[in-house]
Amino acid sequence: MKTIKLNNGVEMPMLGYGVFQVEPDECQRCVEDALKSGYRLIDTAQAYMNEEGVGKAMKNSGVKREDIFLVTKIWITNFGYEKAKASIEESLRKLQTSYIDLMLLHQPFNDYYGAYRAMEEAYKEGKIRAIGVSNFPSDRLIDLAHNVEVKPMVNQVEAHVFCQQIKAAKYMNELDCKVMAWGPFAEGKNNLFTDEVLAKIGAKYNKTNAQVALRYLLQRDMIVIPKTTHIERMEQNMNVFDFELTKEDMDEILKMDTGHSVVIGSHQDPEVTKWFMTLLK
Ligand SMILES: NC(=O)c1ccc[n+]([C@@H]2O[C@H](COP(=O)([O-])OP(=O)(O)OC[C@H]3O[C@@H](n4cnc5c(N)ncnc54)[C@H](OP(=O)(O)O)[C@@H]3O)[C@@H](O)[C@H]2O)c1
Repeated sequence: MKTIKLNNGVEMPMLGYGVFQVEPDECQRCVEDALKSGYRLIDTAQAYMNEEGVGKAMKNSGVKREDIFLVTKIWITNFGYEKAKASIEESLRKLQTSYIDLMLLHQPFNDYYGAYRAMEEAYKEGKIRAIGVSNFPSDRLIDLAHNVEVKPMVNQVEAHVFCQQIKAAKYMNELDCKVMAWGPFAEGKNNLFTDEVLAKIGAKYNKTNAQVALRYLLQRDMIVIPKTTHIERMEQNMNVFDFELTKEDMDEILKMDTGHSVVIGSHQDPEVTKWFMTLLK
């Protein structure tokens, strides 16, 4: 597995398995299938309500804990120093582990500075190996990075062929903060799986649209975490390291960028912020 080095020297796999919208009941089976298929990075979150399933799968899989790179995220209702600190312990308990490889603040709302301090503390205590954020627009990321002791190592943002995060990646690069692409298939929006540009490029290498979409992000130095509940697709999505897109292919896919989110909306749109505020009530 290809890895990427975070700003504290920790090596992280560049391709992993994400469990958003994987039902709690199904999560254990899915993560066991993913580990069987060779995935060694698992991305979950407190808000996905399936950390227990991930924990059980890791225990049951026979794969050594140190061979798995485990990512989880603190949800906004657990932000603020005290609540975040308690929620880190809760995540460790649910995941049945003594440490988390990478912990992220899920959204740039509520008291995220307090929550970040709790992560820094757990990082220093060895309970978390790397820390970062998710869905942070560049302005908030720059502000945070300049006002914390342990710089964010990763920002997990929506990134796929239709929302390529070109400008945001430039700022993250300046901060030595790695880009982790969530929704690498745009959750199937804009007909990604049947898109003709991706299909034409894929035909040259005998690869599917999904494989071309992942390969593109990997060649842009992004960490990718595709989700599927089907083992054949898990295997297909892993099988992206035996071909390389040419500069012409990359340029062609670059033209597919719309420059904006197609899944969730902009985190700088006040209407999106208002919606998140309803979750805090
Ligand atoms: N930080 C955040 O705010 C945030 C937000 C969203 C997601 N995430 C993370 O990113 C991960 C991935 O994003 P996502 O789950 O939103 O969407 P995604 O990976 O872009 O797309 C998942 C969809 O693609 C389908 N699919 C997967 N592989 C396929 C293939 N080879 N051929 C055809 N269809 C395929 C899946 O269907 P089946 O399952 O039916 O196969 C599912 O409907 C999440 O699981 C989560 O870990 C983070």
